[in-house]
Amino acid sequence: MTNFDLAALRKDYALASLSETDVDADPIRQFDRWFAEAVTAQVVEPNAMTLATATRDGVPSARIVLLKGVDQQGFVFFTDYRSRKGAELSENPLAALTFLWKEIERQVRISGAVSRVSAAESESYFQTRPLGSRLGAWVSHQSAVIPSREDLEQRLHAVTERFGGGDVPLPAHWGGFRVVPDEIEFWQGRTNRLHDRLRYRRAESGWQLERLSP
Ligand SMILES: Cc1cc2nc3c(=O)[nH]c(=O)nc-3n(C[C@H](O)[C@H](O)[C@H](O)COP(=O)(O)O)c2cc1C
Repeated sequence: MTNFDLAALRKDYALASLSETDVDADPIRQFDRWFAEAVTAQVVEPNAMTLATATRDGVPSARIVLLKGVDQQGFVFFTDYRSRKGAELSENPLAALTFLWKEIERQVRISGAVSRVSAAESESYFQTRPLGSRLGAWVSHQSAVIPSREDLEQRLHAVTERFGGGDVPLPAHWGGFRVVPDEIEFWQGRTNRLHDRLRYRRAESGWQLERLSP
């Protein structure tokens, strides 16, 4: 048990408010605006987000990944396709993303269908990664059980020998996923737990905006 009195840990949110007239009619533009504000507020790793996936049977799992691109097509992150998340997304291509920007008392939730980005798109991002990260993608079979740390170090040694100082190609098992949003919710903390929640839902006519009870 923790020594902290968890029940007594609470914080009132009073920095800002969010109204229907403040927000952009387009949730991606609204996301861009809030993202820029998170950067200005010096939120640490504002592109870190929780990614939730599930097996075919609906058993959930969640972990942090980094957002590496966002536009009208969706939200892109990169990973090992053989990982647990990769396997879950292959059998059940639906996901949810959550950003917490606690310094500005904001949360953004996104959910939708997921597809792999093109190999060309993965390649062009992969080649921007530092050498160590590119080698790491060859070394690690993400989410597999391994015998020891030493085993990993030996593999790194072997991969470094193999590619020498030359080009490190994109591994076939590595690349991006794009979450195409059906829903995007913007949450602004307010006083007395009466927070502002505005949710966009994709409709035939475009995005529909609704206010949710906190
Ligand atoms: C701040 C942070 C950023 C991360 N970014 C990524 C990422 O972009 N891609 C990735 O595959 N794992 C990333 N990870 C590691 C994942 O959280 C996770 O450990 C890994 O992807 C294996 O997850 P899985 O076994 O559920 O597939 C990050 C972890 C942290 C804490």
